[in-house]
Amino acid sequence: MNDDDLVRGLRILTALYMIFLNKLKKQCLRQSLLLLCVLTLSNVYAQDRQVDVLRDGWRFYRLEKNDGEQGFSNRDFDDKAWRTLSVPHDWGVEKGFDVSLENNTGLLHWKGIGWYRKDLDIGAEDKGKRIAIEFDGAMANAQVYLNGKLVGEWPYGYTSFSFDLNPYVDFGGKNKLAVRLDTESFDSRWYPGAGIYRNVRLVKTNPVHVVYNGVFVTTPVIDEKNGKVSLRADIRNGNNAYGKITAKVKVYALDENDRRTPVESKFADVTVGVPAKGDHTLRLDGVVSKPKLWSIETPNRYLAELDLYDGDRLVDQYSTSFGFRTIDFTPRDGFYLNGKRVQIKGVCNHHDLGPLGSAFYVEAAKRQLVIMKEMGLNALRTSHNPPAPEILDLCDKMGIIVQVEAFDTWRKGKKKNDYNLAFNGWHMMDLEAMIKRDRNHPSVVMWSNGNEMPDQWDLALGKSLYTVAKSLDPTRPISLGCNWGNTAINGFQKESTDVYGLNYRTSFYEKTLNKEENKQKGLLASETSSTLSTRGEYFFPVKFGTSKQLREINDNFQISGYDVTYPGWGNTPDLQFRLLEKYPAIYGEFVWTGFDYLGEPTPYNHDMTNLLNFRDKKKRERLKKQLEELGKIEVPSRSSYFGIVDLCGFKKDRYYMYQSQWRPELPMAHILPHWNWPGRKGKVTPVHVYTSGDEAELFLNGRSLGRQKVKAGEYRLQWNDVTYSPGTLKVVAYKDGKKWAEDVVRTTGKARKIRLTKDVYPVNGENELCFVTVDLTDSRGRFVADADNALEFSVSDGAEIIASDNGDPTSLIAFKETKRPAFNGKCLIIVKLDKNRASGQKTVLRVKGTGVGCASIAL
Ligand code: GAL
Repeated sequence: MNDDDLVRGLRILTALYMIFLNKLKKQCLRQSLLLLCVLTLSNVYAQDRQVDVLRDGWRFYRLEKNDGEQGFSNRDFDDKAWRTLSVPHDWGVEKGFDVSLENNTGLLHWKGIGWYRKDLDIGAEDKGKRIAIEFDGAMANAQVYLNGKLVGEWPYGYTSFSFDLNPYVDFGGKNKLAVRLDTESFDSRWYPGAGIYRNVRLVKTNPVHVVYNGVFVTTPVIDEKNGKVSLRADIRNGNNAYGKITAKVKVYALDENDRRTPVESKFADVTVGVPAKGDHTLRLDGVVSKPKLWSIETPNRYLAELDLYDGDRLVDQYSTSFGFRTIDFTPRDGFYLNGKRVQIKGVCNHHDLGPLGSAFYVEAAKRQLVIMKEMGLNALRTSHNPPAPEILDLCDKMGIIVQVEAFDTWRKGKKKNDYNLAFNGWHMMDLEAMIKRDRNHPSVVMWSNGNEMPDQWDLALGKSLYTVAKSLDPTRPISLGCNWGNTAINGFQKESTDVYGLNYRTSFYEKTLNKEENKQKGLLASETSSTLSTRGEYFFPVKFGTSKQLREINDNFQISGYDVTYPGWGNTPDLQFRLLEKYPAIYGEFVWTGFDYLGEPTPYNHDMTNLLNFRDKKKRERLKKQLEELGKIEVPSRSSYFGIVDLCGFKKDRYYMYQSQWRPELPMAHILPHWNWPGRKGKVTPVHVYTSGDEAELFLNGRSLGRQKVKAGEYRLQWNDVTYSPGTLKVVAYKDGKKWAEDVVRTTGKARKIRLTKDVYPVNGENELCFVTVDLTDSRGRFVADADNALEFSVSDGAEIIASDNGDPTSLIAFKETKRPAFNGKCLIIVKLDKNRASGQKTVLRVKGTGVGCASIAL
């Protein structure tokens, strides 16, 4: 039996004992037995910080038009008719798509008002405890009630918050939590999701405790022998009497499954006197012997455990993980991690998890990062808001550096009801919530106070946010994603950033770097490329250009996978690589985006939001007209085309271009397009190749089409006059004259079979989700890149299909459906295993399809 089991067992015993006591008629006997119980168990309870993640058993109701909300928050309101569900939950994806809705937010029904209710388990034995409720994020405008009383409000859906429930708790009685969320009254430029979409915890502590996100760990001096650790902890004495409080720190090394091993460390204990109902900030300094550095290659992590004693009773244990590493953003020589120059090879991602909507599943987030890491990514920008906290745990464990971003708007909104409406009253609290929660993560190397704020001219505002952020964390630089080049040279950058971030605006790179007053400030390409493409779609003739020329706007609402198309403000990855080579002082880039996301399907923006970004008026008008003519205007596009991978996480061709540059040591070559073009016999069909080699030769049906060298400033090889004939297209890549890698695409037969592959992404050794990829193959088992056969899937007992998709940005089949066609040969099915399924129970996913038979896979 481990400690947790022991505590759990004692808790159950206590509960039974309490029931017994409550049944006792004699008051005095009851009281003396209660005292005995308290004394006996005080050692267990005294040290208890009890954290319960509130996942199951929530009641949910989404308001229909004209519904009243009478009594919804009341303790005794009858909610039996409401749905029972588990959180995290996103109500916005449940109803499926509707073309009459805004496509910048995904054609989804996320707007509305939703209520969640749940019984909280707070017994008589908890009397004297401090009871808090913690939300990692609730979308949006949360109002939290306990037993009918408003406990607190929190408008911003992306920041975490905690409320003290004590004034409203009925110890030993019924305690009903009710949460009202309102997405009706806010707008977004992308799909925000709706609901309690991240974790919620009920936290019980003793009156003397560490406050919410109250510990800040820094590592001011690191050498081979010793790592100095400075720990600041905000504590509260909630007792009615003065307390003598002692704090001790223990340090452990953490493995990737969060298992602890004690390490040699020295911390002096600290004892302080804290008045009744008073707060205090403790400072504990210590050293860890022979600290192992946190780096991209070896993400070593530690855990600091802070033990608080009230007198000699242990009353709280609070743990936080941290790492030893140094960061240095030099003005002109790039970014250094632990003294080593690191080029930032990053992506921006929105928070949705594709077909799962915005409901947070840590395994789905891990899958995203694993796919990105395989490409060679080393950095993530959480655009344009603070992420779920688990993402940062994953980045800590996986060696990914992170820029955490606060806002997409300040005082001036981009949409009618943007965050700007809450900004004045809340931005300080939101900024504080973000930094205090995340400042111990070694992966977090900088903060961004905002993205492309329409008031990025407001010097005073920029400076005030900078000052607040800096006061909360003096150890990391503050950045911004600016999109007005002028802010780089008009003084705005000077006082509101340490690391000036420029989104796109590549023509300002040189001016920014040359400006005298920027000589002490580095430059980050905080958002780049915005290249547009659909996986597996190829249009002819192939020409590089902005979607400006709009030949890309066509009646299937797709964009060519040749990676040659970008909006007016963007460019190709090739051009960006060229620029970063030209200006090595730039810290690196964050590509827009790693994953396709729900909403913002530029250039098919139905509500024109992004069309208006095309600064050229004529271009804008022409695009608008063209879109109107195309379907007046039933534009089906509901997710973005920006991703390096599609909404399912399937790789677009571009993935391999990044891999060739970001993992130059990996022997690889990748050919595009596919070679199934029955209608193109005899027609010119250009072939592009991405390789980490320096030379390559292309063969069509065994005949050489020429050997080419990769020229400086070129990142793809092109054979532009290949005449299509069916068969085998093969590329052999070389490096330093030696064979390095090859790739082959073949003309296949029709799709005849289904191939299923299962991937799991366990976190701390546990996995609940299975990601099953469906590939359609011909009778010889070769992937059919243009197959779109209808598919149908089902799962045996012990599991549930929670979502599926095929990566088609125009598919309007709801994610929860179990029938959908493959898109360009592929489909993804996400299955959730029932954690209570019988051990040894075989769970099987079956997929059948028109003309392709059926297949099954054990999960
Ligand atoms: C940027 C913006 C992103 C996204 C992108 C599309 O300007 O910061 O949020 O809209 O454009 O290219």
